[in-house]
Amino acid sequence: MSKRIHAESKVELSPLIARHYDTIMNSITFGKYNRFIQSAIKDMEIQSDDHILDLGCGTGKNAALMAKTLGEKGKITGIDVSPIMGKQFIEKLGADSRFEFKQKRIDIPFKLEKKYDKVLISFVIHGLPHEHRLILIQNAYDHLQPGGKLIILDFAEFDMDKMPSHHRFIFKTVECKYAFDYIKKDWKSILSEYGFSYFGEKKYMKKYTRLLSAVRKS
Ligand SMILES: C[S@@+](CC[C@H](N)C(=O)[O-])C[C@H]1O[C@@H](n2cnc3c(N)ncnc32)[C@H](O)[C@@H]1O
Repeated sequence: MSKRIHAESKVELSPLIARHYDTIMNSITFGKYNRFIQSAIKDMEIQSDDHILDLGCGTGKNAALMAKTLGEKGKITGIDVSPIMGKQFIEKLGADSRFEFKQKRIDIPFKLEKKYDKVLISFVIHGLPHEHRLILIQNAYDHLQPGGKLIILDFAEFDMDKMPSHHRFIFKTVECKYAFDYIKKDWKSILSEYGFSYFGEKKYMKKYTRLLSAVRKS
C-alpha cells in the first residue's frame, strides 16, 4: 500500500478492511447497504453513453452497478490509492474494455488526458482533512466537461448531538474526526465557490446520507 498521508483518516483502509470492505459495510448497516447503494446509483440518472470518473472507487461495487445502465459507448475510470481495491476492481470489471483502473491519490492534484460527463465521489471526501477535500473538489472540476455533473455520495449535513444515542455511538465509533467536521459544512456554498451550480440532493438511511449533485459551470 502507498504511504498514508493522513494518519487519522479512516477512509484509507487497512489491507484487511480493504479486502473485505463490501461485506463489512453490509454487516455494520445490518444488511441495508446493498439496497441503499442501488437506490443511490439509480438516482445518479446515468445516461447510456456517459463517461464517468469514480474517485476513490473501492472494490468496483458502485462501478458494477453503474454499468447496468451504461451502453456500449459508456466508460468508467476508477481511481483508488489502494492496490487491494484495484485488484478487486479489475477482477470484477477488468474483462470489460469499458472499464479502467488507475492507482493514484485523489487528494493531491493530478491530470488525466480526458474530461468526463460525471464524476462520482462516494464515501471518501468526509474522511479527508478539509484542505485536501478542496483539492479533491478542484480535481473533480478539472476533469468534468463544462455542464458535467459532480455527484458526491456521502454523509449529509446533520447535528451529531441531535442523533439518537445508539446512532451517535455507531457514528462516533466507526468514523474519524474529519467526518465529524464534514457533516457541519455547507457543501453547496463550498461547491459554488469552486464553480458549481444547479444543486440537487436526495437523502437516504434516516437522512444521514445524501447524494448531492452539482453541475460544472461552463
Ligand atoms: C470508504 S471507501 C469507499 C469506496 C467506494 N467509493 C464505495 O463507495 O464503495 C474509501 C475508498 O477511498 C480510497 N481512498 C482513500 N483515500 C484516498 C486517496 N487519498 N486517494 C485515492 N483513494 C483514496 C480507499 O482506498 C477506499 O477504497
